[in-house]
Amino acid sequence: MTVILGLESSCDDSAAALVTDDRRILAQAVVGQSQAHQPYGGVVPEIAARAHVEILPGLIRKVLDDAKMSLADVDAVAATAGPGLIGGVMVALLAGKGLALAAGKPLIAVNHLEGHALSPRLADPDLAFPYMLLLVSGGHCQLLHVRGVGNYRRLATTIDDAAGEAFDKAAKLLGLGYPGGPAIEQLATTGDPTAVPLPRPLVGSGEPHFSFAGLKSAVQRAVAAGDHKQQDIAASFQQAVADCLIDRTARQLNLCQDLNALVVAGGVAANSAIRGALQALAEEHGVPFVAPPAWLCTDNAAMIAWAGAERLAAGLTDGLNVPARARWPLDEGAEKVRGAGVKA
Ligand code: KG4
Ligand code: ZN
Repeated sequence: MTVILGLESSCDDSAAALVTDDRRILAQAVVGQSQAHQPYGGVVPEIAARAHVEILPGLIRKVLDDAKMSLADVDAVAATAGPGLIGGVMVALLAGKGLALAAGKPLIAVNHLEGHALSPRLADPDLAFPYMLLLVSGGHCQLLHVRGVGNYRRLATTIDDAAGEAFDKAAKLLGLGYPGGPAIEQLATTGDPTAVPLPRPLVGSGEPHFSFAGLKSAVQRAVAAGDHKQQDIAASFQQAVADCLIDRTARQLNLCQDLNALVVAGGVAANSAIRGALQALAEEHGVPFVAPPAWLCTDNAAMIAWAGAERLAAGLTDGLNVPARARWPLDEGAEKVRGAGVKA
């Protein structure tokens, strides 16, 4: 049995976890910082980086204590090395380097997106490559053909906002605070998803990509008009996002033959309306649907430790000179798309 210590600090969650290569989570701890960022309606990078420095060491101590282990019992240290807010990314990566050096253990620099991409395999031992992954988080909205560890082909990405970013912006317009996804999902339960006419950008389009900026502007106009109940706007917005995700995913399912499953991961995958719609789509296409439990969808260190376990098994470890990266696409060869900027 191999034990991996995973560390995560690329956005506004500090996290540590101990995971085995036979899929047991020995201990894990996540501390969010939403309260620290709440007054600003989004993550303030400098506040996040300082908070990670304060929080992470205690979490590492806690998971070792909870598992009744010492660093000597750990076989490798896996830390997120990007992409993300660079000040934050450096905290877990430098902590990981220090621990790996001190204990004489291998270091694995994990791409945060690979953490999300492989997390469904931590929860489901039967999920085999290749699968289609809808990766929907605060910074990304992509469809990926996952062929193996470190082997991804990007099929589609967003040309403007990420899906989670759209939830966060819509929530801010509705005065719901940050993070917006859970707040909108909650409010939407009492609303009518057909009440507010909202656009479905790029739905039916011949190009494969996603777009959410126009939807956000439409929410802004609906809020300003004052003709609709808050919960109806929330429910209609959530429905519009789901419709866009389903249309784009369906387009790729029609084009892709070689698939063991349709998989969803990333923070937005915690949304039950979106999970339900994807489940129905997978059934329609006769392909199994896999979604990790909601706690494994939002940022955590168990997924980083697991990606570390998969990389270690494939013989992929890193030197202590490995850099922290603000931008780090999973598919380095993917074509640039119009407007995508750093999110591609
Ligand atoms: O994966 P994640 O925790 O962090 C990033 O890597 O970005 O994703 C965070 C994003 C936020 O935009 C948050 O609003 C969204 O995921 N999110 C949700 C839900 N829970 C989190 N969006 C919709 N419904 C949810 N239940
Ligand atoms: Zn994430």
